[in-house]
Amino acid sequence: MKEQNAVMRPYIVGNWKMNGVKAMLAEARAIDRAAGRNPGVDVALAPPATLIGPLRDAVTMIGVGGQDCHTAEKGAHTGDMSAVMLADAGADFVILGHSERRRDHGETDAVVKAKAETALAAGLTLIVCVGETLAERDAGQAEAIVGAQVDGSLPVLADPASAGLRLAIAYEPVWAIGTGRVAAVEDVVVMHAAIRERLMAALGEAGAAVRILYGGSVNAENAAALLAAEGVGGALVGGASLTTEAFLPIIAAASHED
Ligand code: 13P
Repeated sequence: MKEQNAVMRPYIVGNWKMNGVKAMLAEARAIDRAAGRNPGVDVALAPPATLIGPLRDAVTMIGVGGQDCHTAEKGAHTGDMSAVMLADAGADFVILGHSERRRDHGETDAVVKAKAETALAAGLTLIVCVGETLAERDAGQAEAIVGAQVDGSLPVLADPASAGLRLAIAYEPVWAIGTGRVAAVEDVVVMHAAIRERLMAALGEAGAAVRILYGGSVNAENAAALLAAEGVGGALVGGASLTTEAFLPIIAAASHED
């Protein structure tokens, strides 16, 4: 039996990463129709920034988000994108602190926190990503690393009571991303409980309403077991969100958990 706030709907988010040109809008439309058939599930896609506007125009049932934003609202930052621009293009959320951003762009927890606060100010909701490397897990440091990431990356909320509406956390062990090597369900349960503790410490009772998603090689075969696990409020899906064939069974699996 899942011990979860009854108002928490499963949240299934596709992170398209640096994949997708206009031809992919057909997949988005099909995913949107599937979301309509699973009304108990919150479904969203984070396409590349170039597709946010077109995707927003192509769908009606799903959330549309960015994969990153700058810490500043605007200014002399060639090639960067602000949260205000994402919102203006039609985004309603943004993924922040993904391990690929932390690795490729040197993003620290403090940078993620600053981005989170700018994004909230722009009216976006957040998915803040955390996760340990394999070396950190092997060294027995996984919980400490992830806990520190949660503490350091969480934005200060103007209205902490609204945390569940404004914020989700995605636990994505780095070694499980794109590797086909999914985390063991029991390890996910332990980590989600540890993250929940940090959320409660930071946000009080409101921390109970923040959805904690699992990400890392989620697919049609493993989704049901992960989504049924204690404390798992949804999934952040990379590769398996790129085609309807792979993504729809994950939405359907979440539908059975709502
Ligand atoms: P994969 O599902 O491709 O492992 O990617 C997970 C991820 O990084 C989602 O943000």
